[in-house]
Amino acid sequence: MTYPIKYNDEFLARVEALHVGGRDLPDYSQWIKDHMGGRVVAFRERLLPHILAFTDLSDVDVLDFGCGTGSSTVVLAEASAAGRITGVDIDAVSLQIANLRFTHHGLDNRIATRVIKPIEKAGDLDLPSEQFDFALLNGVLEHVVPFRNRSAVLLEVWRTLRPGGMLFVSETPNLVWPYDRHTTGLPLIPWLPDRWAHRISVALGRHNEEGDLESRGRRGMTFWGIVRPLRATGPVEVLNITHTGNRLFPGRPAFRPSTKRRFATAVLERGLGPILTRLGIPATALGPFIEYLCLRKPPAA
Ligand SMILES: C[S@@+](CC[C@H](N)C(=O)[O-])C[C@H]1O[C@@H](n2cnc3c(N)ncnc32)[C@H](O)[C@@H]1O
Repeated sequence: MTYPIKYNDEFLARVEALHVGGRDLPDYSQWIKDHMGGRVVAFRERLLPHILAFTDLSDVDVLDFGCGTGSSTVVLAEASAAGRITGVDIDAVSLQIANLRFTHHGLDNRIATRVIKPIEKAGDLDLPSEQFDFALLNGVLEHVVPFRNRSAVLLEVWRTLRPGGMLFVSETPNLVWPYDRHTTGLPLIPWLPDRWAHRISVALGRHNEEGDLESRGRRGMTFWGIVRPLRATGPVEVLNITHTGNRLFPGRPAFRPSTKRRFATAVLERGLGPILTRLGIPATALGPFIEYLCLRKPPAA
């Protein structure tokens, strides 16, 4: 089997061990491929151009919150030649793999990692306030359990941003959609009570009886669920609206989206776009995933 990036055998063994409970699930081989460089390659093409549409990362302090095995962190570090990168996660095993990844890419002396405890309330994130210029939550919020802790996570990450700092949220399923494209591939799963979602997913072979469907990410977030807690602390600028014309793809990706995606993009941007902009709603608030959402703390006066 060849993978997108040639990491060594130890790396592969650790990635396989991380997913040992999911061997029977339909997406198992895709997960392995994702960790074996698939996400790094995809993020270079599909994530980074949209971040760079909002800000220059070359010499800034960056937090990759929920960095997991470090795919997003590598791409941030590559874009930030003189920057200082910090990756944090609650999962020590993922962070060990992340550190092997950084060594492989020659980035280990530029990235600091830290195991954190799950955030439940203000002050739980052991990082100083106003330390970072840019914080990424890529594919993270949907995995934060229990659901009620997500506001505290957002507020703690927001606290670590300097005035003018940006919070970038991406790859999180949009909870306004009743179709679970992220975890089970089944309709209604995001909207069902836990017990039913679990039962149906197990019965249809999309989840293991003993596994936790919530932390696998069956329930995402809405745009409003993300900004409301932050707005309680002060103004929040939605840069997608004010800086990049409220487009679903703020930057120019190095790939051509599918016809279906281009059609949906045209409907959202050209059809509904002007109304959404007037209402202060970014187009991604209605898409199937919250993607490339860039929120800024107003710069100091
Ligand atoms: C799908 S991975 C995303 C990893 C990385 N950001 C990327 O895009 O490749 C989700 C990560 O979120 C982490 N996570 C889940 N709950 C968390 C929490 N409460 N605090 C910090 N990280 C959390 C998980 O451990 C996992 O590594």
